[in-house]
Amino acid sequence: MDAAGRPQLIVAPDADALARTAAERVTARIAANSGRIAICLTGGSGPKKLYQLLGSEAWRDRIPWNRVHWFIGDERVVPTDDPLNNMGVARATFLDRNAPSGHIHPIPTSLGNPDRSAEAYAHELQAFYGADSLDPARPLFDMVLMGAGPDGHTASLFPGYPAIEETERWVVGVPKANVAPFVPRVSLTLPVLASCREMLFEIAGHDKQPILTRLLNGETLPATRARSQGETVWLVDQAALPEDFRGPR
Ligand code: 6PG
Repeated sequence: MDAAGRPQLIVAPDADALARTAAERVTARIAANSGRIAICLTGGSGPKKLYQLLGSEAWRDRIPWNRVHWFIGDERVVPTDDPLNNMGVARATFLDRNAPSGHIHPIPTSLGNPDRSAEAYAHELQAFYGADSLDPARPLFDMVLMGAGPDGHTASLFPGYPAIEETERWVVGVPKANVAPFVPRVSLTLPVLASCREMLFEIAGHDKQPILTRLLNGETLPATRARSQGETVWLVDQAALPEDFRGPR
């Protein structure tokens, strides 16, 4: 974050370079912590290349798998083997082959409604953290990965929804999504997502240009309100970057 409190902007030439930069940052955060490490993953298409890299031969040896715990910032309430299930994608892409099963912490999606899933996951996070209130001196996560949707949502916190204002609960049920896929969601709330050393947004591709323009212009949207108590980084590729923001600034 700069002096004006804006996130740090890093521009990668293309989506492959962006994934490599993201993998460097994830492994640097892991290397900085000699104890138990917690990474909060995200869904959507944005992080798939990163997940492939982390599971590849070149990168997986850089991760002390027996010390890293993997969480998810939001989930679509669909069966775990549905291709829309965010943790399901992460598991199939890199976690199941590398992480001890007890270190993978999915949001349960078979409890009948999103509020019950949210409550169960809040308990799981609190048990892992060892307290039910967050201490700024002891962030919950080493790193939180995020994406931004076309309406400016992040995790499953949609613009104008009450969930975005939640300050007490750690996790909330979101009965109706604002954008596809239109399935109920479960999402960590802003204060819980903020409890991290680094929040890393990955925003890539030409389709993201309209929303990135709004975010860079400082519009108040969930993706601009989501900030780490530590470092917040917007990692974007050239294709997503609006013309006005290209070149030296
Ligand atoms: C989800 C998300 C969501 C996602 C953005 C961007 O479950 O949909 O976690 O917040 O990160 O919608 O998604 P894309 O990377 O697919 O554009």
